[in-house]
Amino acid sequence: MELGNDVSTFRRTYKTVFAVFRLIFQGIFNGIIKTFLFWKHVKPEGKAVFITGCDSGFGNATARKLDAKGFHVFAACLFPLGPGAAQLNQETSERLKIVGLDVTSEESVLKALEFVKNNLGHCIIWAIINNAGVYKGLSVEFSTLQEFRDCVEVNAFGPIRVTKAFLPLIRKSKGRVVNVTSMGGRVAAPNMTPLHSE
Ligand SMILES: *[C@@H]1O[C@H](CO)[C@@H](O)[C@H](O)[C@H]1NC(C)=O
Ligand SMILES: *[C@@H]1O[C@H](CO)[C@@H](O)[C@H](O)[C@H]1NC(C)=O
Repeated sequence: MELGNDVSTFRRTYKTVFAVFRLIFQGIFNGIIKTFLFWKHVKPEGKAVFITGCDSGFGNATARKLDAKGFHVFAACLFPLGPGAAQLNQETSERLKIVGLDVTSEESVLKALEFVKNNLGHCIIWAIINNAGVYKGLSVEFSTLQEFRDCVEVNAFGPIRVTKAFLPLIRKSKGRVVNVTSMGGRVAAPNMTPLHSE
């Protein structure tokens, strides 16, 4: 059975060589991925970020995180004089600025844009983050038409209003638009009808 032994030795050698090559290529591939995706630190100097819906939740958290990293944060709040905005302002750096913003109002969006333009200084608008969102109502039977309208106005038209207004600034700086949405945009659940209507 010498032939059989040869074949199994060959197989073993082949497997070892293959494993070694795989390790090498995996190492190179991982290195490339890490270098280009994860090791690329963005320098926050001179970069401003405009975030909507910073009164609470993800907006609150994102504003704090980016402020701590050194970005210039424009934290847009529906209630700029409310407790959420006050606490955010208090617990962050001098760079963070609270801006009043109701994403359902064209006038309010343009006012916020003016504020940002006047307070940008030497910074560029590196990103806008459309985060503001609401969830109102239940099923069709137990929701008012207004609750449907509110969801669509804030969650669907809000980001469009804000993006359209800030687009000239973003184009100039070659910045980016980040949209935060609900899982409800993909998966429908009972009694969350107004949210899914957007
Ligand atoms: C904002 O985040 C901070 C830190 O996580 C938290 O203490 C605070 O309660 C949050 N504010 C609101 C209004 O959710
Ligand atoms: C975010 O929403 C705006 C407004 O609807 C849209 O123009 C933009 O393409 C969206 N961006 C992404 C990355 O989905």
